[in-house]
Amino acid sequence: MSDKSIMTYETVALDEAEGALVILDQTKLPGEVKILHLTDQKDIWQAIYLLQVRGAPAIGVAAAFGVYLAAKEIKADTYEEFCEAFHQAKEYLNSSRPTAVNLSWALNRMEQVVIDNKEKPIPEIVELLRQESIEIKAEDVWMCRMIGEYGLTLIKDGDGILTHCNAGQLATSKYGTALAPIHLGREKGMNFRVFCDETRPLLQGARLSSFELYADGVDTTVICDNMASQVMKNGWVNAVFVGCDRVAANGDACNKIGTSGVAILAKYYGIPFYVLGPTSTIDMSIEKGEDIVIEQRPQEEVTEMWYKQRMAPQGVKAYNPAFDFADHELIAGIVTEYGIARPPYTESLKEIFRKKAEAQAEGKRHS
Ligand code: MRU
Repeated sequence: MSDKSIMTYETVALDEAEGALVILDQTKLPGEVKILHLTDQKDIWQAIYLLQVRGAPAIGVAAAFGVYLAAKEIKADTYEEFCEAFHQAKEYLNSSRPTAVNLSWALNRMEQVVIDNKEKPIPEIVELLRQESIEIKAEDVWMCRMIGEYGLTLIKDGDGILTHCNAGQLATSKYGTALAPIHLGREKGMNFRVFCDETRPLLQGARLSSFELYADGVDTTVICDNMASQVMKNGWVNAVFVGCDRVAANGDACNKIGTSGVAILAKYYGIPFYVLGPTSTIDMSIEKGEDIVIEQRPQEEVTEMWYKQRMAPQGVKAYNPAFDFADHELIAGIVTEYGIARPPYTESLKEIFRKKAEAQAEGKRHS
């Protein structure tokens, strides 16, 4: 592996000259740093499905670049033909994973550009799509930094933080969401003790969070998922920080499978449990967690992956939901780029969106 810190790599980027989506292949980390240059829509779909690029915000950015690349290739004589082909390309990428709302959020935003510019020549629309995809990534960096700033107000130097899955730089364009306060704290000369749940079955905590935190000089400890209770009981955890894939209007926060259990444990031990995510992950059209579509993944991820030979007996079934949700009653705060929402979330999330609308009206989307 190269000596370059993983923190200096781009999780997701657009190579304009080559016309490629460039991603850091997260299925190979931490053993190998492999950069993929993807030009084919099938390969981009597959990269999202296989979690070569993963994490709600990173998936959104990858899809925005992906659909721009698809738009560049559309051969259409009329706006209507272009629109139809664009819509198909968008729906195709949108079918790669169902739970993280950032995917459809970014794709809808891209489609809005096509809808809003009906009168323009097609090459001009394609150029606007390029600009929008770049803007989506720039905004992601800004949002994560703001989440980091707000998140930092919740902890102090030396605190112990427990996190689940990877909601770090590898899951976004920079900083991360749940790990943004930690990375930002490092920039300010602070340090924290971070406990990373390994996060069965795909081990995003053990492979990715611990990797990026350690590379950033953070005191990092990997624990098996079933050790979280003991670590909390030991008094080592001051706060739990997790990311999210889709937050419902009532504050129920869907995130990597296991998040719900961690939230219940935190409540039991009296430890504040915070969800950190951009407003692009909040889906006000969904009333409650039960209404969120949970991705089911192949059984082999549980029974075979990571083992030299199949670990579970042939014939037994495996249940493999990729996500669950933390009930809003267990959440001490939802940290967004527009501030920290506190219970009751039915009110405070609306307030966050009011602030966002105000900022956008003043043209202050990001700096
Ligand atoms: O299946 P994954 O690895 O894409 O799941 C990722 C998570 O659950 C993250 O916690 C979430 O997307 C937040 S990323 C900032």
